[in-house]
Parts: sequence; structure tokens; C-alpha cells
Amino acid sequence: MSTLRLGDKAPNFDAETSQGKINFYDFLGDSWGILFSHPADYTPVCTTELGAAAKYKDEFEKRNVKVMALSVDGVESHKDWIKDINETQHTTVNFPIIADEDRKVSDLYDMIHPNADDTLTVRSVYVIGPDKTIKLMITYPASTGRNFEELLRVIDSLQLTAYKKVATPANWKSGEDVVISPSVSNEEAEKLFPKGFKEVKSYLRMTPQPD
Ligand code: BEZ
Repeated sequence: MSTLRLGDKAPNFDAETSQGKINFYDFLGDSWGILFSHPADYTPVCTTELGAAAKYKDEFEKRNVKVMALSVDGVESHKDWIKDINETQHTTVNFPIIADEDRKVSDLYDMIHPNADDTLTVRSVYVIGPDKTIKLMITYPASTGRNFEELLRVIDSLQLTAYKKVATPANWKSGEDVVISPSVSNEEAEKLFPKGFKEVKSYLRMTPQPD
């Protein structure tokens, strides 16, 4: 078991998946990545989650994000279950699901939380940047399906703040005003943010989302 933290290198691995054997780094290439675990095949919440993730294909592609799921069930189970997901969620699962029967990847990414369940993975989400470092980690319990709109929202924030000297405030959504990073002086802000900025407090300066 390893403890991963934000900024750490995302561990690479080879894994059997519903789309054959995949090397994680090769799969990611230069893209952003989402690696998310779910507790088990043929379970109701997981069925809706994987269907939801499939429906966001265009949104993930727009953001240059590749998606990979994981559970500790086997490849044949995944393949059969995918047929059910496609049928019941009216979509086509378009990303690989790791068959982590030996828990190798689950252990690498600390996806089994024994005091919650000592065999199944919890609902972990890792967002990985093009530099292969971990940008976001969220963990949900088995009983709560994830909010994929929130994942897109965070990816929008991660991608914006990776390239501009801004941060995004509470409940921010793409297109809304952002805050200027504290390390930027007012003089620099005038150059960096031609749309202007409002100094609410010396430490709280708002500017329209930069292009
Ligand atoms: C589900 O996906 O529905 C689920 C999986 C494990 C425990 C509880 C719910």
C-alpha cells in the first residue's frame, strides 16, 4: 500500500482491462487522465456511474482527458456487465475498465480502505496531469455515486490554473470570474489581466476568466 499525495508522480502500471492489456502511461500519452475505481461489477450505483462517465465522452475529449475505470472483478465479468450498462444507461462504454483481480493497481493507488470494506475498492478518483503528477484526489463511499459535472468543473479549474496565474473561487464554473493568485503584484496583474480586475481586499482581487 502506498500513500499518494497531490503533486506525487502517478504510479505507472500494466493491467488487464476490458480493452486488452494496457500500459497506463502509454494510454495517457500527453493527455490529462482520470483513473477511478468502483466497488464491484453488477451493482446498481456503479452501473449508473459508468454509464454517466460514458455519456461525458465529448466533454472529456474537449478537455483532452482520457478515462480509465477499475474494479477488482475479472475481464469476462467486465465485458458482460458492460453490455448491461450500455443497455440500461442508453450509452456505449467507451473507456477501459481495469480487471484488478490481484489488487495490484488498487494497492498502488490506495483504493481499498479496509475499515470501510476490506476487499472491495472504494470510489476513488484521481485526476492526473500531462506531466503524470496527481492533480486531484477525491474519495467517495460505496453508497454515494459520483457527480461527473463536479469532475468536469474541477478539470476546468485545474486546466485554467495550470496555465494562468489565477485560482477559482467557491462554486466557480467555467466562464465566471476568478481570483488573482496572491503571488501576483497589482502592477503585474495590470499586464497579465487586460480585462481588468477589482480589488475587493488587497488579498482578494477578482478578474474575468482569462482567455
Ligand atoms: C453500488 O454500486 O450500487 C454499490 C456497490 C457496493 C456497495 C454498495 C453499492
